[in-house]
This record gives sequence, C-alpha cells and structure tokens, in this order.
Amino acid sequence: MKNLWIALAGVAILGVGFQVAVAKGPHAGAGATKAKVKYEDVQKILTVSCVRCHGAGRPRGGIELTSYETVTKGGENGPIVVAKDLKKSPLYLAISGATGYRQMPPRGPQLDAKDVKTIEAWIKAGAKK
Ligand code: HEC
Repeated sequence: MKNLWIALAGVAILGVGFQVAVAKGPHAGAGATKAKVKYEDVQKILTVSCVRCHGAGRPRGGIELTSYETVTKGGENGPIVVAKDLKKSPLYLAISGATGYRQMPPRGPQLDAKDVKTIEAWIKAGAKK
C-alpha cells in the first residue's frame, strides 16, 4: 500500500513537471509583444469592439476608429495615439483601466489581455501602418 502512494505521488510530480515543461515550451511568452504587430491586427480588434460607438457616423468623443488615418488623427481632445509612448496614448490607457480614463468599451466585456497586448505592442513599435 505504501508503495502505491509513492507511485501515485511520483506520477503526480511527473505530471506537474510535464506541465511546467509544456508551459515553458517554445511558444510561451512569444505573445504579441515580441511578434511584429501589423496595424491590420489592431484594426480587427477596434472593428469588433469599438466601431459601434466610434464609427464614421457620429463617433463618440469625435474619435473614429475605422482606419489608420482616423485612429492616428485622434478626437476632440487631441491625439489618442502617441508612437512609442503608452502614457500619452489614451487609446491604450482607456483599454487598460488606467486611472483618469473611462474604461473602453464602457460597459464590458473588456478586451482580452491578448488584444490589449497587441495594441500595446503596436504603439511601442511606433504605431506604424
Ligand atoms: C458603448 C459605446 C462605446 C464603445 C463600445 C467604445 N467607446 Fe470609446 N468612448 C465612448 C464615449 C461615449 C466616449 C467619450 C465620452 C467619455 O469619455 O465618456 C469615448 C471615449 C473614448 C476615448 C477617449 C478617452 C479619454 O479619456 O480621453 C478613447 C481613447 C476611446 N473611447 C477608445 C475606445 C476603444 C479603443 C474602444 C474599443 C475597445 C471603445 N472606445 C469602445 C463610447 C464607447
């Protein structure tokens, strides 16, 4: 009986070890931050989650999120993206829950962490087209 428990514990430890090995595999951490981000990927996120309020008709806050040109133009209160400067980019601040910014989208669901990372990486890399 004792041996059975030792065997089971061994299997459990191997299992955990295996999961750690998988988590540290070649794909772990290779998220959007490292991969090259295309504006196209950013627009996809905006189209799904933001354009219903920030569309061409009557964009809220004067912020139209339908194309590279309108996103980089900004809104009533000026630019929403400053290349390489997250702290000056309301586009990023509003989706990441920064204080002083209304969370976007206003009434959930919040963007996936992955999508926030994509937008973060795009701005960090220079907010290019
Ligand atoms: C339900 C409607 C709605 C949706 C969806 C929405 N917004 Fe907004 N957004 C607003 C309104 C209204 C304002 C302006 C007034 C305000 O600040 O409350 C605004 C303001 C903003 C601002 C300016 C914030 C500031 O404090 O300067 C940014 C940036 C912004 N939105 C980005 C986004 C992004 C990015 C998305 C998608 C992830 C999004 N919004 C989705 C309604 C929306």
